[in-house]
Amino acid sequence: MSSNPTLAIGGLPANLDADILLELKETADKLCSPGKGFLAADESAGPWLRAGHSEAKKVPDNAENRAAYRSVCFTTPGLSANISGVILHTETLYQENADGVALVDLIKGQGMIPGIKLDKGYAKDKGLAGTKIGPLGHQETFCRGIDDLQKRAADAYARGARFAKWRNVLQIDPAQGLPSDLAIQEACTNLARYAAICQSERLVPIVEPEIVPNGNHDIFACAAATERVLAAQFKALSDANVYLEGCVLKPNMVKNGLEGPQATSEEIATLTVQALKRTVPPAVPGIFFLSGEMPLDMDNEEAASINLSTMNAMFPNLPWHLSFSFGKALQKTTIVTWAKGVNAGDDVAATNAAAQKALLNRSAANSQAVLGKYVAGSCASVGTDGNIVQAAGPY
Ligand code: 13P
Repeated sequence: MSSNPTLAIGGLPANLDADILLELKETADKLCSPGKGFLAADESAGPWLRAGHSEAKKVPDNAENRAAYRSVCFTTPGLSANISGVILHTETLYQENADGVALVDLIKGQGMIPGIKLDKGYAKDKGLAGTKIGPLGHQETFCRGIDDLQKRAADAYARGARFAKWRNVLQIDPAQGLPSDLAIQEACTNLARYAAICQSERLVPIVEPEIVPNGNHDIFACAAATERVLAAQFKALSDANVYLEGCVLKPNMVKNGLEGPQATSEEIATLTVQALKRTVPPAVPGIFFLSGEMPLDMDNEEAASINLSTMNAMFPNLPWHLSFSFGKALQKTTIVTWAKGVNAGDDVAATNAAAQKALLNRSAANSQAVLGKYVAGSCASVGTDGNIVQAAGPY
């Protein structure tokens, strides 16, 4: 884009000052640096509870342990070669490590950009009126947090955050007509409102309308739902006067349901890229996939790296940076390595170093995947032994 702010505004109403547009674009471009993606470290509870592993479950979920684990991740030497931005929970943005150093400073010190999760999640038992119960076992939902968002966004910026995330959840059940038009409209309008507010506070919004994989549908049902949702999402962003060059998308990959017929990574890559081409304007600089829940007999880290790499290998000239914003699929081996050491009472420095090595390895694997060059099996992972059902629901 031009660094001329008048040209940057184009057909948008001049609702943002020119210097804000330039800052948003600059941040978004840095987040989309070649070969880089996000570490999604914004889990509400201890990240190890989401990992879905028997060993991890034994670590007490308290603020001290969360800070300890996350400090280990954020101080991984060399991590910024593969990670541009780290998404934080509010607790972490304002948290210090045992030595009194702000965690946000650890991230900045490593040359990575801190971000903040701003949605306040959803209530499983207070869904959208009249909607059906989907495969997650609850009605279709909406996320809370818009009311005080302006202030929380301004505060997060003052504390060092430069981008934000908001995740809305949609479910697939073709027989019941899920996702419903109502749920799509609510999710997309709400995300557009959030995105506009973030931009007014100089935060690049990650727009995340996640369609969860729960259910027994095939990949084509997911393709249809993803295309409907993304088309609605970009209409809503346009209606809300969101500056597309200063925001990024975090979608699900197009896949079969957890209990549906298994699609190949080539099918996943083809249908995912097709859905994106049909719906996401080239003005959007980057698309960063979530990894999502996977079947217990699947190595989620390896599968996510392979799927992303297949997309970039099959479709090398896409208009967007096609990358990762993985939580579970970036941290699984790291968490299990760390948790095993903690549970066994091993030397702390050795445990931390081993966990950091795992994080660096998987982030490098995903960096290769962004370039379409990940070699399947070349990154060690804990595999599927010890897998248990992970914590689900609001992130
Ligand atoms: P995953 O753990 O599924 O990669 O999700 C990351 C995330 O940030 C979801 O909002």
